Amino acid sequence: MAEVIIVKTQEEAGELYGRSVADLIKAKPDAVLGLATGSSPLAAYKALAKIVKEESIDVSGVRGFALDEYIGLPLTHPESYHATIHRTVVEPLGLDPAKVHVPGDALDGAPLEDGERIAAAGPAYDAAIEAAGGIDVQILGIGTDGHVGFNEPGSSLASGTRVKTLTEQTRIDNARFFDDDINQVPTHCITQGIGTIMKARHLVLLAFGAGKAEAVAETVEGGISSFCPASALQLHPHATIIVDEEAAGRLRNKDYYRYSFEHKPAWQAI
Ligand code: F6R
Repeated sequence: MAEVIIVKTQEEAGELYGRSVADLIKAKPDAVLGLATGSSPLAAYKALAKIVKEESIDVSGVRGFALDEYIGLPLTHPESYHATIHRTVVEPLGLDPAKVHVPGDALDGAPLEDGERIAAAGPAYDAAIEAAGGIDVQILGIGTDGHVGFNEPGSSLASGTRVKTLTEQTRIDNARFFDDDINQVPTHCITQGIGTIMKARHLVLLAFGAGKAEAVAETVEGGISSFCPASALQLHPHATIIVDEEAAGRLRNKDYYRYSFEHKPAWQAI
């Protein structure tokens, strides 16, 4: 079972991630970080950047692979995940941009019609992750419909990186980044598959707010089903799910999660 940690604030969640990843980088200076966009990981990146600065940690060897990218947005578009990852992770942490990859890098806004390039980009991305030795720690947000990466309900739990159609709900959720105009939100994306994500050695899923409560309950306490792609995390040997009180609102086993975190041996990291 995954470890579920209930925190009071996003900052508290961020510190747990930041400490864990900072220690990883100290032990493995060329660590491979799996990166996500969206609002959930922002406090975590901030906390990590603060520790990196305070402890003068050398991050010049750190490598990164993002989860997903919209199809059809050029890399320079401010809401492309390429640009977002550079703005929220690469710059504040001081990473080497050449070592950080996004699944759409090879596409650079290629239209959906460019099937040949889009079909080739997924397997090439998985091969690049493999060649880097795999992802050490993958940070994840979760969609209100239970997606991780952009693996929408119904995604194969064994999938590799590939093109997916976004649900209307996801496009509505993400319209806030596009002047609240759903028509500007691309209809398709390229995303690491659930099979790709499951190969990372440590998964850290962050979820905040009541809007995520149902998806979190399905993920942690529901059956394993492609209807809630995040539920595949139940099969991962090292998954950490960090939620605030609101996102934990529909968990039945809350008391036990609290109890076990309070009694966690001091030698055990997340
Ligand atoms: C982002 C991603 C998505 C988001 C999810 C939650 O790279 O893969 O799965 O993590 O849609 O988004 P936020 O964090 O904005 O609620």
